[in-house]
Amino acid sequence: MVIVRNDSGWVAQIQAADRLSAAQYSAMAEWIAPEPHSTILDIGCGPGGFLPYLADVAPTAHIVAADHDDESLDAARSLVTTLALGDRVLIEHGNVLDPDSQSGPFDLVVTRQMVRHLPDQIDAIRRLAARLAPGGRLIVGEGGLAPHYLPFELGRGTPGLMYRLVTAQAIRYAGMRAELDHPVASRFGWNVVLEKAGLVVEETTSFVWDIPAPVADDARAHIRSTLLRLLTGPTRRYLVDEDVDTLEWLLNRSNPDGIDFRRDVFILGASTLHRCALP
Ligand SMILES: C[S@@+](CC[C@H](N)C(=O)[O-])C[C@H]1O[C@@H](n2cnc3c(N)ncnc32)[C@H](O)[C@@H]1O
Repeated sequence: MVIVRNDSGWVAQIQAADRLSAAQYSAMAEWIAPEPHSTILDIGCGPGGFLPYLADVAPTAHIVAADHDDESLDAARSLVTTLALGDRVLIEHGNVLDPDSQSGPFDLVVTRQMVRHLPDQIDAIRRLAARLAPGGRLIVGEGGLAPHYLPFELGRGTPGLMYRLVTAQAIRYAGMRAELDHPVASRFGWNVVLEKAGLVVEETTSFVWDIPAPVADDARAHIRSTLLRLLTGPTRRYLVDEDVDTLEWLLNRSNPDGIDFRRDVFILGASTLHRCALP
């Protein structure tokens, strides 16, 4: 069985992004609009940042949150306890690819940014659809636009660094997929993947993550840690020397034009949700 492990520091990174995503997550949860008294599964829930928003729009629902990563589950458990949601949200260990770890069925299955990590995405979607109760809906959060943080002109290096960082991340992601056990190349965009898995896509829409410049300290800290991960992690090898130099310059804490002082950094991205049903 293939286990995709989260790298070190990843959970904290997702939690920081979650804390900055209230507006986007509220809009997503309102669009999902679960039926009252429904049963909901958030699979690949990570540290659980979306759970409070689901719980908010579905006050009478019973929610199960599952992930195969223990560190993520611990973080989700602690969030649910802090927010006193323990009687409505059950946190459980679950691997989409393991037939023995499947609870359900559920009226609503939600998965965000997980299927992209699995070796055979069509197969993964079929497994998720198999967990739907009759008349249920599967919400798949995949696709959208990678977040941008930097203006086009920085005053150092060739303009357009942010576009090259996004490209480097895409190359790294493709390499990560190729390293999985028995990866099945996906030849299609997400709406077609969902159709090929036997689902009817009822509606697709995208939600912006929009924190305009000038940003507050929490957003600035997230931008810094994201850029630092790009500089020090596996994406670095896909950057040319000049861009590595610009990143180091940006992250230098004593640089008055660096990340810690710039008034022109921002967060702008978009996440797409697909609402699907069985035919
Ligand atoms: C990028 S994170 C997304 C977390 C959360 N859904 C979000 O959008 O913030 C992907 C999550 O999927 C989980 N995951 C990956 N493969 C999985 C599998 N086979 N079964 C269950 N969870 C899995 C990872 O542990 C990780 O927490």
